[in-house]
Amino acid sequence: MTEQIVKLPDANATQQLGIYLGTSLTAGSVILLTGDLGSGKTTFVQGLAQGMGIVDAIVSPTFTIINEYFSGRLPLYHLDLYRLTSADVDDLQLESYWSGIESELGIVAIEWAERLSYLPDDYMRIELTYDSIDHRIAKISNFLTAEGAESAEKDRG
Ligand SMILES: Nc1ncnc2c1ncn2[C@@H]1O[C@H](COP(=O)(O)OP(=O)(O)O)[C@@H](O)[C@H]1O
Ligand SMILES: [Mg+2]
Repeated sequence: MTEQIVKLPDANATQQLGIYLGTSLTAGSVILLTGDLGSGKTTFVQGLAQGMGIVDAIVSPTFTIINEYFSGRLPLYHLDLYRLTSADVDDLQLESYWSGIESELGIVAIEWAERLSYLPDDYMRIELTYDSIDHRIAKISNFLTAEGAESAEKDRG
């Protein structure tokens, strides 16, 4: 696991972090976003979408749970689990998004990822915290479970 701390002095910095990842992440990437209301999760996803070349306006999926965008270099699946219980989340069968079995592989960004009861084999976690009114801090870590490491090994041949 690698861990990085990034200072985000304003909303634009949070968007820029999203843009950077939106231009560089590959299909099948999963980003788990955690942090209080207003910590910048949706702001980050707006940058992510911009970096992916998505032209649609990104609106928070708090009520729709999942918004899907197909106008960028990869599909973007934007989820917000705020209103769900763990049992609701189980019913959603979210692994279909990151396995690419029922949906085309893209980038999956999940707000309120603390609600997930199961995790992908390989993911990036971004924990956003308040520092002061505008200032946020992102703690970014990459996780690869034993299963993920094994399948990466197989992919290398
Ligand atoms: N450094 C920052 N990063 C992200 N958002 C910030 C920052 N500073 C101020 N803001 C403001 O805080 C709010 C964050 O809202 P939003 O991205 O919807 O948060 P969340 O999805 O985590 O609830 C926005 O109004 C944004 O303009
Ligand atoms: Mg949000």
